Amino acid sequence: MLEDATAEMQQLAGEIKQCTRCRLHETRTQSVPGEGPADARLLFVGEGPGYHEDKQGRPFVGAAGRFLEELLASIGMSRADVFITNVVKSRPPQNRDPLPDEIAACRPWLNRQLEIIKPAVVVTLGRFSMERFIPGVTITRVHGQERRVGDLLVFPMFHPAAALHQPKYRSLIEQDMLKIPGILAGLQPVEPADPPKALPQQPSLF
Ligand code: URA
Repeated sequence: MLEDATAEMQQLAGEIKQCTRCRLHETRTQSVPGEGPADARLLFVGEGPGYHEDKQGRPFVGAAGRFLEELLASIGMSRADVFITNVVKSRPPQNRDPLPDEIAACRPWLNRQLEIIKPAVVVTLGRFSMERFIPGVTITRVHGQERRVGDLLVFPMFHPAAALHQPKYRSLIEQDMLKIPGILAGLQPVEPADPPKALPQQPSLF
């Protein structure tokens, strides 16, 4: 039930807002649990909140977020259609990379989000998010190729901020995004065949 999942997600967001599991809570303005429908088919997982996300309490609201919105529009979607979150829910100071113990401390939050949303596809944005699901690979080799990881279908993409810093990534990210509708379409459950029609009852003549 969507109402139950939404309520569970609100409860979870409240817990994440209070989180003190790692040092990042000491320097953040607020944590950023993520947002979107609790029954989204696509879950986008970025790296961690930046300056604007930390101030607003919402994921991907800065320049990388605007590019992510453009990418979503390219496949006929908007933010409202997908769930967007991060590997770490609190901003690393000066936007440094999240540290392994911070990612580990945040792991249970993302696990619970996965359990509630049960997304058809987890789209990882950037190296840290990819490593959280597919350890030991390099993003340049595996981006744009979906793979099963346990119960999940994971689709690694470069981080949208990479396109802002290095234009050569822009078309790679755009091309990868365009594969997503095909992946979702391939997952559509096959309509069950019509059940055999009951034979019309013959009025008994005897
Ligand atoms: N970059 C991220 O990885 N996450 C955000 O929420 C914003 C920028």
